[in-house]
Amino acid sequence: MKFCCVAVFLLLAFFWHSTVSCPALCKCFPRRMEVVCNEVPLTEYPTEGLAENTTMLTIQLTNITSISEHHLKATPFLQELHMYGNHLESLSSHLLRGVPQLHTLDLTGNKLRDLPVDAFSDAPLQNLVLKNNQIKRADAKWFPKNSSLTWLDLSGNHLTEISVGLFQRLPQLKNLDLSNNGLEKISVNSLDPLTKLERLNLQDNKLETLNESVFQYTHNLTSLFLTRNKLTKLSQNLFQGLTRLTHLSLDNNQLSHIPKGLLDPLSSLEDDGLDLTVNPLLCDREVEYLWRWLQKKKKKVFLADNITCALPESLAGRSVISLTENDLNIGSQPF
Ligand SMILES: *[C@@H]1O[C@H](CO)[C@@H](O)[C@H](O)[C@H]1NC(C)=O
Ligand SMILES: *[C@@H]1O[C@H](CO)[C@@H](O)[C@H](O)[C@H]1NC(C)=O
Ligand SMILES: *[C@@H]1O[C@H](CO)[C@@H](O)[C@H](O)[C@H]1NC(C)=O
Ligand SMILES: *[C@@H]1O[C@H](CO)[C@@H](O)[C@H](O)[C@H]1NC(C)=O
Ligand SMILES: *[C@@H]1O[C@H](CO)[C@@H](O)[C@H](O)[C@H]1NC(C)=O
Ligand SMILES: *[C@@H]1O[C@H](CO)[C@@H](O)[C@H](O)[C@H]1NC(C)=O
Repeated sequence: MKFCCVAVFLLLAFFWHSTVSCPALCKCFPRRMEVVCNEVPLTEYPTEGLAENTTMLTIQLTNITSISEHHLKATPFLQELHMYGNHLESLSSHLLRGVPQLHTLDLTGNKLRDLPVDAFSDAPLQNLVLKNNQIKRADAKWFPKNSSLTWLDLSGNHLTEISVGLFQRLPQLKNLDLSNNGLEKISVNSLDPLTKLERLNLQDNKLETLNESVFQYTHNLTSLFLTRNKLTKLSQNLFQGLTRLTHLSLDNNQLSHIPKGLLDPLSSLEDDGLDLTVNPLLCDREVEYLWRWLQKKKKKVFLADNITCALPESLAGRSVISLTENDLNIGSQPF
């Protein structure tokens, strides 16, 4: 009798273990086919015990340093892999070969530096987040020829330039975040393939100029963020064709003039949609264009009263919108 009970118990334990297996230190939600390993002392990817049918896997705040194709093969139905805040330093080439259904890969907050060729080929990835790593160069060869990626976040890395070929492989992109890098220029034709792009975040970089043709094919842009760069001058045709733009931020740059006509194509701006604050504007005769535009479109402008003249001395600190015709004449005098 006793023996029988023990045998039944062992048998039950065996089946329990084999049907509801779960990697040590992780939590498993078999009905949702989800596994979460949160802030536990893992140093290696927990292949052992992962249910084959896992579709969503989160491994965050652990000490794992690498993942490879071999690791991911254990879960061939995986659709989302979130690996925030680990110590990842390397990924293997063809990482995604064993997970043909993976659409979302989030590698935020790791220590990735150089990624291998074909790192993200082999799966119909739609969302890729590489935010807050140490990447210096984004390579077209990470991706397949005609990638299905619609969302790419490379913010918070060490990029200084974008190679012209990168976006040729990413024609489906709708959302591109390159903020918080060290970008000094955007090569003139590099954005041309992104005809579907809707949001482009370039804030917190070191851009000094933008070639007038750089947005020539990105006609579907609705949001463009250029806050905290070093833009000194914009060409008057820069926003030609960006008629769907609802949000544009140009604040915290070094703009002294808004060239005549620059803002005219922006017929879709939302209320408060344009930010021009914190620029050292020179209120000479040429400010007249901006002055008239602000009078007409004040509602579209964020803190319109805070767009102020830096020079000439006599107008320093005055709100552009409050200037009088008399002031504009004063501004045109030599100083
Ligand atoms: C996934 O597999 C585990 C065991 O491998 C099983 O317990 C679970 O019911 C399965 N989930 C679904 C939704 O099929
Ligand atoms: C990762 O390793 C460090 C140093 O060995 C240790 O202090 C820390 O607790 C580990 N993290 C986790 C989540 O185990
Ligand atoms: C690229 O892939 C899309 C679908 O994701 C397809 O519609 C398009 O024809 C492909 N383009 C080329 C050049 O293969
Ligand atoms: C631009 O957006 C419109 C409206 O959302 C859409 O119908 C059109 O297909 C988009 N154009 C491209 C090139 O994706
Ligand atoms: C912008 O790029 C085009 C094409 O490369 C070039 O011809 C033009 O001179 C550039 N404009 C400026 C202001 O550098
Ligand atoms: C806008 O201007 C007002 C009045 O000069 C000032 O009190 C306020 O701090 C400014 N706001 C910002 C966000 O700069």
